[in-house]
Formats: sequence, C-alpha cells, structure tokens
Amino acid sequence: MSFDDLHKASAKALTEAVDSICQEFVVGPEKIEEMTNFFIESMEKGLTQTTHSKDALDMIPTYVTGLPNGTERGVLLAADLGGTNFRVCSVDLNGDHTFVMKQVKSKIPDELLEDDNATPKDLFGYLARRTMVFIKKYHPEVLETAAADQKPLKLGFTFSYPIDQSSLNSGTLIRWTKGFKIADTVGKDVVTLYQDALAEQGLSMIKVVALTNDTTGTFLSHCYTSDNTDSLTSGEISEPIIGCIFGTGTNGCYVEDLKNIKKLDPKVRERFIAEGKTHMVINTEWGSFDNELKVLPTTKYDLDIDQKYSANPGFHLFEKRISGMYLGELLRCCLVDLHSKGLIFSQYRSYDQLPHRLKTPNELDSEVLSHIEIDDSTGLRETELSMLQSLRLPTTLSERKEIQKLVRAISRRAAYLSAVPLAAILIKTDALNKRYHGEVEIGCDGSVVELYPGFRSMLRHALALSPIGAEGERKVHLKIAKDGSGVGAALCALVA
Ligand code: GLC
Repeated sequence: MSFDDLHKASAKALTEAVDSICQEFVVGPEKIEEMTNFFIESMEKGLTQTTHSKDALDMIPTYVTGLPNGTERGVLLAADLGGTNFRVCSVDLNGDHTFVMKQVKSKIPDELLEDDNATPKDLFGYLARRTMVFIKKYHPEVLETAAADQKPLKLGFTFSYPIDQSSLNSGTLIRWTKGFKIADTVGKDVVTLYQDALAEQGLSMIKVVALTNDTTGTFLSHCYTSDNTDSLTSGEISEPIIGCIFGTGTNGCYVEDLKNIKKLDPKVRERFIAEGKTHMVINTEWGSFDNELKVLPTTKYDLDIDQKYSANPGFHLFEKRISGMYLGELLRCCLVDLHSKGLIFSQYRSYDQLPHRLKTPNELDSEVLSHIEIDDSTGLRETELSMLQSLRLPTTLSERKEIQKLVRAISRRAAYLSAVPLAAILIKTDALNKRYHGEVEIGCDGSVVELYPGFRSMLRHALALSPIGAEGERKVHLKIAKDGSGVGAALCALVA
C-alpha cells in the first residue's frame, strides 16, 4: 500500500467510527415523546413524596406564591453562588421594569471545589469576605454607622444547588452538584451558615431574608423586566410560565397549583389558601431527571463522565448530557476513545501515548465547542487553532472535519434533550390552552442558551418534534433573562 492509500484507509476508518458515535447521539421524535411522558410522571411523583428518590424529580416548593409585575421598588442586596462564580450585588428596582445593579463578581477558588478537606466554614467564610469587599466598595457608609443606629439590610441569597426549603428564608442542602463536594454541608441550613459567617466578618447588619435558586431568580426577574405581564398585573400567579437555566448546570422552575403540591405540610398549604394564595413556584431540579436511566439516551461516554470524572456519580444524569460543565467532557471522552483505537491525532509525536491535556478532565471548555460548531473557515482553521490552544494537539483537515461532526452531534443532543422538560411542563400545566391564543414566555439564563451557536434554534426544533407539536412550539417565546438570579433574589428579599 502506498502512503497515500494508507492515509485514505485511516481517514475512512476514522469517518466510520465517528459516524457510528454520532448515530448514538441522535434523538428522534419517539424518544422525545417517551422522555416527555416520563418527565411528567417524575414530576407528579416528586410533588407527592417528601423524601428524595432516584425515580422522582425533587420538585422543591420555593415558598414563592406571588410574581412581580415590574412596579416593585427598593434597593436590596443579593448574593449569588453559582457553579463558577460568586456575586454580591445591590439591586435598585426602579418600579418600571428596569433596575440598576452594582456588583462584585469573583471566580470560585479552585481549592473550594477541588480540595477534599475544604469545610463549610471555608466556603461560607469566603462568601462573607467577598460580601465585605462589596460593602467596602459600594456601601462603605454601612460600616461607619454605629451598630445601634443600623437598619437591617435585607439580602436575598441565590444558592443554586438542591435545597430542602422549609420557608422562604431557610433550607438545607440535599446534595451538591456542578463540582462542589464539601461533605459537611449536606443536611445543613445554608442561610444559617452564611448568616453566621457574615456575623464573624462584622456584617450582622445584613439579614439574609430570602433563599432562592437561580432558576426561580431567573423566573422572577423575567416577570419583573417583561412588560408583557398584562394578565399578571394583579400580582397573583395565574400564568404558568417557566424559568430555566442552561449554563454550567441546567434546571427549571414553574408555577404549580397549590392543591397539586401534595408534599407540602397541610398546615402550611391551608395557611396559604387562607391568605388567598393559589399557586407556588416549584424548583424541579430537572438536572436529576431519570437518575435510574430508564429513558435517557446513554452512550459509554456518558457513563464515563458520570462514574469516572464527576463529583456526584449517579446523580444529575440529565444535566450531564446537557449543561456547559459537561459538553467539553463529552467531546474529550469521544476523542480519548478514538485515540485509544489509533484513529485520531496522527500528527501527535508520541502516537501511542495519551496526550497529557486530553487525559485531564475538564480541560476542554464548552466555549471551545462553540467555536468548532460554526467553523466554516477554509481548512477549518478555527477548529485547528481551538484544538491547538485547548489541547496542544495538531490535527489534519480530515480529523478536524470529524471533530466538528462530533461537536455538532453532542450539542444537538443537548438541545434536543433540553426541549423535554419544557414540553412536559407545558403539557402538565396545560399552559398552551389556558388563554386565548395561549402564548407563553419562558425566561432563560445561562451561557449555553445565551451564547452557544444554534442552541436555541435546535431546542425549538425539538419542541416542534415533541408532543406539543409545531403548533405548540410557535406559541412559545424563549426570552433571555440575563443576570436573572441577582435581580430575582432581590425581588424575593423585597417581599420577605
Ligand atoms: C444544578 C443545581 C440547580 C441549579 C442548576 C443551574 O443543576 O442543582 O440547583 O439551578 O445547576 O445552575
């Protein structure tokens, strides 16, 4: 065989292997329907049971029973612990759907995510110190006023992890997601931990009055900023709309009829009903949909990510197929597999050894995939540079073409799966048939939905393939609610 023939044969073998992987990532309409039906079942189960099990969604009552309509006013503090950053902000709500925000944002230090010996005190001490940095920068007057003259400063705390919420301002951590693993935090009240840490910093004038999830925050912020809330002006919830996150993690919340939330303490439910409340926002924690893998499409790469490379094996399996924290890992695992079969990275000098960067979990950011996804440059130059920069790996043009196919298969599956919870909630709440024309708005936040090229249109395509059909899909408005969690936490604090 000539060198040229050899080259052609190996390119063909790579193409065949990649096509077969891509086939495993395909999600068709029957699968979408099966998952949507199972999602509805898992929601119903989760609304009934007070314990958390792998066969039901957590369906956490948030104690939020009213929605803002954009006329709210006030200056509130908010703190927001997400998967990548911690933000402290003050939010000035102008009462006309607009707000002004001042914030200090910091990347969560690696040791808090990676160190097995990190304690809750380390984490909440860090949050309190960053809160002090914010206060010194933007509200130093607070530190100059004598304690006796201090008015408490209300703060809404967005804590974007599964919490068993017992009231608007208390809740215990059910489990960590998105990379955290500080063991002693599970089962503890995160508001108490933060409040105590603030006191140690001399910030007892700050009162954490509301605890919320980023998904609820996004939803409330969407309701505040949207000027299309005509039917909400009474401030009551009568409209089932969804708030969701597709970022480092994924999750969603929606408005549920109080009488369907069977897991709520009957006394609490009666109290709400006596106060004239009819609905409550539920945080679904849909990242943990189908942790038993009854319907989720599963490749060997998904199993690897969950079992070998994630901090919470066996949990949040839906999230591990969708969110920004895992898209890069999926590509990395596919490439490791192809390399182990001698099919890719032929230009790499020690062909038989796994390149160092490729070996390292989380080395490939989902941002890299977003560049490759839309690379139409001559010779896929952008992809070449991305692979060189992120993994220090040279590639041939035929290899790059196959890498792009893999990227597109991974992102398409993520977007298609993302349509499932939206379709399921719209069906369960009958949202599309409730009003004349039944149009609904969905407030979304997160890097993937906001920035990943084509993600929203692929998601819409899958919505049209779902049981809500093309007609249902046309009634759905996906709106980006940027920085929703800060504003949402402030709105929660306002009503607390
Ligand atoms: C993870 C968390 C969830 C959060 C989501 C998006 O799934 O468990 O609480 O809302 O990430 O940040």
